[in-house]
This record gives sequence, C-alpha cells and structure tokens, in this order.
Amino acid sequence: MSDSHSSQSFETVAIHAGNTADPLTGAVVPPIYQVSTYKQDGVGGLRGGYEYSRSANPTRTALEENLAALEGGRRGLAFASGLAAEDCLLRALLAPGDHVVIPDDAYGGTFRLFAKVVSRWGVDWSVANTSDPAAVRAALTPKTKAVWVETPSNPLLGITDIAAVARVAHEAGARLVVDNTFASPYLQQPLALGADVVVHSMTKYMGGHSDVVGGALVVDDDALGEELAYHQNAMGAVAGPFDSWLVLRGVKTLAVRMDRHSENATRIAEMLTSHARVTNVFYPGLASHPGHEIAAKQMKAFGGMVSFQVEGGEEAAVEVCNRARLFTLGESLGGVESLIEHPGRMTHASVAGSALEVPADLVRLSVGIEAVDDLLADLKQALG
Ligand SMILES: Cc1ncc(COP(=O)(O)O)c(C=O)c1O
Repeated sequence: MSDSHSSQSFETVAIHAGNTADPLTGAVVPPIYQVSTYKQDGVGGLRGGYEYSRSANPTRTALEENLAALEGGRRGLAFASGLAAEDCLLRALLAPGDHVVIPDDAYGGTFRLFAKVVSRWGVDWSVANTSDPAAVRAALTPKTKAVWVETPSNPLLGITDIAAVARVAHEAGARLVVDNTFASPYLQQPLALGADVVVHSMTKYMGGHSDVVGGALVVDDDALGEELAYHQNAMGAVAGPFDSWLVLRGVKTLAVRMDRHSENATRIAEMLTSHARVTNVFYPGLASHPGHEIAAKQMKAFGGMVSFQVEGGEEAAVEVCNRARLFTLGESLGGVESLIEHPGRMTHASVAGSALEVPADLVRLSVGIEAVDDLLADLKQALG
C-alpha cells in the first residue's frame, strides 16, 4: 500500500486513494479526462507528465493508484477487460517453451486464453487441483514460470490456500498469480499472503453495477510493475477514461456492498442446503465446504457467489434458471442486482470436454444486495 494510506482502514483507502481534489477547480471527484493527447510546451515539455492516453491518462492514473492501495501493492494497472489484463500479464511473464500450472476450476475465458491462444505461441500448460498444494507441486516442471490460481474459483467456489501455494511456487522459482475477482480486495489480499500478481475482472465487484467492462493487475514489485506497464503500453488494451471513472466510483462502496453480498449469500446457501430439490451447494461460508477453514483464515467474509446442483440433471437446472424472476438470467457477476445462470451452457461453454468441465446440473448465482427475503422467495418459486 502506498505510504500515505498504509495506516488507514480499507474503507477509507477505497474512498480516498487516487482521489485527490482536482488542482484546477477543486472538484472532489477526479474528472473524466476524455482526451487522447496533451499540448507540449516545446518538444518534450510535458506539463503534467502526460503525452498520450494509451501510455497514461489522469483518470486512469487515479484508478491505478487506487487499485494499488486497495490490494496493498505498489503498482496497479487498469485494462479494457479482465482478459486483456490476463493477456498482457501472460505475454510479459512467459516466453515460448515456458510452462504454467492452471487450476482445474476457473473462468472459461481464462482457460480458453491458455488452451487456444497462449498455447499457440509455444507455452505449455497443465491442470492441477490448486486446493491441494501437493497436487500443485506434482504439476511443476523445470520450465514452470507461473502458477495460476482462482480463489474462490469460478464456478465451483473452490478454495486455494494462497500462502501454501505461494511457498510451493516460489520453491520452484515460479510466480504465483491470483485471480481475486470473486473475493475483491476487501475480502482477501493475496499479495500479503505471498502472491506475486493479483488479477481482476473489474467488470465484477470492483465496478459493482454491471455497467463497465475492465481488468486490473496489481503487483508489489517495482521491477515487475515496470515490465507490466511497458507491456500495457506496448500492447495497448488500456482502460478508457470513462470506464476508469466508473470503476473508481464503484470501489468507493466496495466494502459495504461486499458485506451485504456476503450476508445475503450466506442466507441463500443455508436455504439451498435444506431444499429438497438441491443435491449439492458450493459456498465457502458453509462449515461443510472442504475449503471452509482456509477461507475463514484468508478471507474477511465469504462473498456473494453461490453454486448448486439440481435434482433432475441438466434440463432441471436450465428450467430453474428460466423460471427465476428477480434473479436476472445473464452472464457476469458482482453487480448490485442478483443474477442466475447455467455455467455449462453459458459462462463455461468453452471448457466442455476439458479437465475443467463443469457439472451439467449446476446453477450459479451472483447474489446481489436486494432484500434477502425477496431473493429467497424468488429462488424457492424457481425451484418449484
Ligand atoms: C474469475 C474471472 N476472471 C476473469 C474474468 C474475465 O474478465 P472480463 O470478462 O472482464 O474480461 C472473468 C469473467 O467472467 C472471471 O469471472
């Protein structure tokens, strides 16, 4: 965390980091600098350090400072999407011949990036159950440069012990990358637990209102931060000024939203556990979840994502999704409004036939911050 915010609480940092009053007008919120280029006072004479908005833009800088502070890192970088951030990271970290360990449960698009795109450039990958540090160790090769983890994972809410897997990765000279999208930095701070890079789809809890697509990388190492910033500019998939502004606005309420998401999700997971038509519930807040103790150790609360399996197989699960009314049927997650989806046919269609294939009878919920009784009533009617 930057020195000026290191002694402050998360809630305070979320509102103030990067949010200095505009020097020209005193505006308390950073303006949207919707601009591509900057007047120079003579060749090379930059007034505020800005020359071209792919390289840097003041609204994006405000967000990037905020991101670094929220994750307790030294450098934050904002991208056009979560996958753009991942792509930049992979090209900065890896070269042909390198190997990566990826989780056996992850966002389908992340898997597609490894399996269909990065692999074409000569990067090898293997899948491991990252909830088991011994399985990660077994998957390492002398060429492993990175271990990739999602915790909680998408869509099965698996939990990885970040500190334990960081040790395993570091012993082998590999870096640990943690996708912190499901938890958000309010619930979990991977850098403090030993991770080298934090990845976000800011589209989700960071933005929080289903109105922006964005991604982020945060690191604690200045040299790695410089390397990533070089690639960010060289590759160019940066977050635009308005999108940066929207995320900066979203994170101000991240703490209160995540508390409410977590409370609502806990109530819903408990209801589902005792529902006759539900055969399995995945929520790390449940004492029965195999990762519950580790989640309780490394997370402040258990987040807003819940998945469950429905009696009757794939068609029954699809029917539950179709019958929901207050839960909107749609992809994505992390907004204030509740969403429901069928991972097998929607977000995770790209993992069909792979080691990451998801159960056909799985339903995934992104539990919003509406009144929980309304959400419970809708789910009960959808389950029939
Ligand atoms: C855990 C996780 N990581 C990364 C991504 C990719 O982010 P984006 O859709 O912003 O590119 C997603 C998208 O759903 C996700 O759920």
